[in-house]
Amino acid sequence: MTRVSIIVGAKGRGSNMLALARHIAQDPDIEIAYVIAPKPDSPALLAAQEAGLPTAVVPYGETFAEDLERVLDDTDWICLAGFMRLLPGNIVHRWKGRILNIHPALLPKFGGKGMYGHHVHEAVLAAGETESGCSVHFVTEEYDEGATFMQARCPVLPDDTAESLATRVLALEHATYYKALKAAIDGQRT
Ligand code: GAR
Repeated sequence: MTRVSIIVGAKGRGSNMLALARHIAQDPDIEIAYVIAPKPDSPALLAAQEAGLPTAVVPYGETFAEDLERVLDDTDWICLAGFMRLLPGNIVHRWKGRILNIHPALLPKFGGKGMYGHHVHEAVLAAGETESGCSVHFVTEEYDEGATFMQARCPVLPDDTAESLATRVLALEHATYYKALKAAIDGQRT
């Protein structure tokens, strides 16, 4: 059984976390170890609790890195879902090649520090792109720098706003993240 923990941010809705959890619930080979959030009132954490998932709170602070590693001790793979910070080095090193993130654009374009949520979609529209999508990539100590593992594409329509584009991309994210996680886990096994 592969144990996966999902780390969410303080403010995220948790829709990718819930989509992952729904798929994982149907998968006999994967289980959720923890949904981890930095604050007890994180909307994504509350959503996880409501869905009956095991949760843990690890507050940002001086001992964040060690506290997180302790909670993750029996976790095999880590998925970031709306976690907008860099992971501490001890976590990146210990779980190297077993940490994924989802990003709402076609990396390497529209990634990096400050590129999250609506900022990404606004930048895609401002650049006049005709295509966008989502990227699942491995996590390193830099923002959005790890190798892209899987992408899914959708059109950018002429009358799109950041909101309408975000909605189209989010639907792709929900369909793609589990597929990528499963393929990454299976790839490592072979
Ligand atoms: C998602 O669109 C995800 O791709 C994005 O934050 C949103 C979280 O939504 N992540 C980034 O922009 C990372 N740079 P959710 O909480 O509903 O899953």
